[in-house]
Parts: sequence; structure tokens; C-alpha cells
Amino acid sequence: MTAHSSSFNAIEWHGQSLHLLDQRVLPHTHTVHEYTTAADVADAIRDMVVRGAPAIGITAAYGYALDALNGRDLSAAYKVLAESRPTAVNLFWALERMAGLGTEDPHALVAEAKKIHEEDIAANLTMGQFGASLIKEGSRVYTHCNTGTLATGGHGTALGIIRSAFADGKLTQVYAGETRPWLQGARLTAWELMQDNIPVKLVCDGAAAQLFRAKGADWVIVGADRITANGDVANKIGTYSLAVLAKHHGMKVMVAAPTTTFDLTLDSGNAIPIEQRPMSEVTSLNGQPIAPEGCEAINPSFDVTPAELIDAIVTEKGFVENPTVENIAIMVNS
Ligand code: MRU
Repeated sequence: MTAHSSSFNAIEWHGQSLHLLDQRVLPHTHTVHEYTTAADVADAIRDMVVRGAPAIGITAAYGYALDALNGRDLSAAYKVLAESRPTAVNLFWALERMAGLGTEDPHALVAEAKKIHEEDIAANLTMGQFGASLIKEGSRVYTHCNTGTLATGGHGTALGIIRSAFADGKLTQVYAGETRPWLQGARLTAWELMQDNIPVKLVCDGAAAQLFRAKGADWVIVGADRITANGDVANKIGTYSLAVLAKHHGMKVMVAAPTTTFDLTLDSGNAIPIEQRPMSEVTSLNGQPIAPEGCEAINPSFDVTPAELIDAIVTEKGFVENPTVENIAIMVNS
């Protein structure tokens, strides 16, 4: 497996089974679950044991290979995995690549899943360098959700750029937005950064405006779950507000994603399916109710940031500034 710098893996292949680090209970509990069927892997994706667009794609590929190993029906495996979560296009990309091999040979399918995993790590390491090249020395970065080793094959997308820029001596401070309702920023991003001794301060989502008004950060750097042909970006709920705020305060916005996150079949973000998750994720915290009994809530898991609010989109193939249909097509198809 290609080396990445984190001391843990979110996803590990163990010959006949898949091991997933349970991201729902990090950072205080370290639990690994073992999977042997695509249906159970699909549940793990839906229930957020594993999350983050590239990690979901890699996991689905292994899930498909598991059913091949056990002689199960691969069209059923495809279907159950494809129904797990709707927004991250990496899931569908990975399943298409596995099914597109046109074989039921388990050895070929396991090898392909491992290749998808390896390629994602390599893409992140390259993307890290491209993204870091856009950042000036002494910069302060605000990030949202978790886009690190936990969300990918390793190193990370936005967090990979943060890791690379910090290694280059360019960052003085990282701010991690807590990211309600799942708190990926508080539980996962802060944990990953602290393990790497990268200076991180946690920020309540609602405090970003005050930080930006006080000129406390220079960049917002985030990942993506799906990027359309015109450069619109679906990412964790709250990204759109951060981009609007950043523009209002003269800051720059960078989106980092491998080309497997692009969906050039969609003209704009209006066509991206946005996952609606259970109301209970908003009305409760750690299983404890925080709202009056019977209170309704909305829980869109993602929002769409329009391309005009984005300064740069960085991939493993390079980056575009001020994304357009034309420059995105050239980069993705290069
Ligand atoms: O609901 P999640 O935790 O799967 O959402 C994750 C995000 O929105 C990430 O920012 C995105 O997948 C990019 S991960 C490299």
C-alpha cells in the first residue's frame, strides 16, 4: 500500500474481509468492525461507520469484491451499495469501475478495489503539493467537516493540502469548524491535526463570521462530494455559508477533490441529489434529546456552493482558478 503519514487507516483489506475504523465513536473510542458482505458494507456506509466521498467509493469497491469472493450475485451487490448514500459521486464511480471490468473473478475484483484505494492515496499526495503551491507563507486556514485520512484512502484532500502546506512551513494556524450535526470537524479533523502536531483551534460553526470579520483567516479550504461540469460543488452542509462569508470578507476559497469526484454529466449543482438524513441527528446529541419532544427539523447533509464563489479547484491533475465549464473539462480530461 502507498505510504501516507497518518498512524491509522480508516479502511483495511484483510484478504477475506474488510476492516473499517468506526468513525462514529472517534476520537475517544477506537473500534474496528469486520465485514464480509456487500449488504453489511452498505449499512456501514449509510450509518456513517465510514464516511467522506473517496472513502465511501473505496469501501464500496471492496464491498463489491467481498460478494464476488463469496460467490454472491454481483448485480444485487451493486444495487445495495449504490443505494447506501446518494450525494458522493465517488460511490457510483467506484461501482461502475468494478462492474465495468465485466468479470466475476474475485481475484481480479479484489485487485481492482486495491488499485482504487492505492490510486486515491497517490492522488491525495499529488493534490497536496498542487494546493500548497497556491498558499503563501504565514497563512491561516479554515476548514470544514473532515477531509483527511479518515475520509479518503490516506493523507486527505483539503486536509492533505493543509498537511502539505504545513510541512512546507506555510501555515501558522488551522481552524476546524465543528460541523453540526455529526461533528466531523470536532471529532475527526481536530483529532487528525493534533496527531500531526499541526496547530488547530476548534470553531463553533456559528463563530466563523466573527473570525472572518476579525481577519483571522486567509483561506477556506474544503473537500467535495460532487463537482458538476460548471464547477458547482456539493459538500458538507455549511460549506455554502462559509464560501459566502469568505467572499464578503475578501478571503479565498479552495476546493480539493480527486477527479473521481467530478460528475461532468451534470450541467450544474441544481441537479445534484442532496441526501436528507434523519431529523433525530439534529434534535439529539449522542443519543440524548436536545430539542422538545416532537420538534421537527430539517437535515440536508450537503449544500451546493456555486462556482462563482470558488477561487480554485485542486485535483491530482492540477488546478483551475475561477472555474468554468471550459477549464474544468480541460483539467479533468487531461
Ligand atoms: O457526511 P460525510 O461525513 O460523508 O461528508 C463528508 C464531506 O462532506 C467531505 O467534505 C467530502 O466527502 C470530502 S472528503 C475528502
